[in-house]
Amino acid sequence: MSFAVSSASSAAVAPALAIEHVSKRFSSRTGTVVALDDVSLTLEPNESLAIVGRSGCGKSTLLRLIGGLEPDFEGRIRFEGQDIAGPGLDRGIVFQDHRLFPWLTISQNVGIALHEAAMPEAQKRQRVAEHIELVGLSGFDDAFPHQLSGGMLQRAAIARALTADPRLLLLDEPFGALDAFNKINLQQELLRIWHVRHIPMILVTHDLEEAIYLCDRIVVLSPRPGRIQSIVPVTLSRPRDRTSPEFTSIRKELLGQLGF
Ligand SMILES: Nc1ncnc2c1ncn2[C@@H]1O[C@H](COP(=O)(O)OP(=O)(O)O)[C@@H](O)[C@H]1O
Ligand SMILES: [Mg+2]
Repeated sequence: MSFAVSSASSAAVAPALAIEHVSKRFSSRTGTVVALDDVSLTLEPNESLAIVGRSGCGKSTLLRLIGGLEPDFEGRIRFEGQDIAGPGLDRGIVFQDHRLFPWLTISQNVGIALHEAAMPEAQKRQRVAEHIELVGLSGFDDAFPHQLSGGMLQRAAIARALTADPRLLLLDEPFGALDAFNKINLQQELLRIWHVRHIPMILVTHDLEEAIYLCDRIVVLSPRPGRIQSIVPVTLSRPRDRTSPEFTSIRKELLGQLGF
């Protein structure tokens, strides 16, 4: 087992997120599935971390635990020093399917995150408009989801996740359903947005190129039960050249880790 740790984790700053000995079992009448087994991991402020691994290895489960969507687990997860106790606007989540309401406009969908915020309506509208602009959807404020392409819908989902000013962005295969060109385009956009917002992010993906293009470290999970097999640091300067020998050699290393 190789276990490389990036230099960022030796910095004297408190981690944004600390995952300590986390295990998760799903039990049913047909038996018990150990989805995660003794996972420990920290995320530094402003760090971008990818989680890769074969289908069913527990990537989405780990993200759901961090998002507070799955309360029953063993171990401890602390975000900014506090135990996670359910979902919260401090963590924005984007899924593979956009999960926008079809009967609401893009503005209304993006504004959902501010529904309960103690903020004047005018300020809410301004914040929504700013985020629609941030993701490059200006002019589509009053459009309905069915009028947008797949890539535009994912942009709207990112805007919704960021509107409440979260301090952590969680993404579960956000571009998994997009075609290759749209995907590259959205990866570039996400990199730009991440630079603008300065918040840490965790990206679950099965796309190794996406992980290397975007992230500071790549966590490889082993198949059932999901354990940390290795953590591969990516120190290439950004924007990264997907065709460079260094990029390709990290891809090759990851493929090897995954047994290909
Ligand atoms: N709600 C659930 N009930 C029962 N088993 C589940 C549930 N969610 C996930 N699992 C199981 O946990 C394992 C990990 O799932 P998941 O985290 O979705 O994997 P990945 O995202 O890496 O494909 C799988 O074996 C899956 O079948
Ligand atoms: Mg998944």
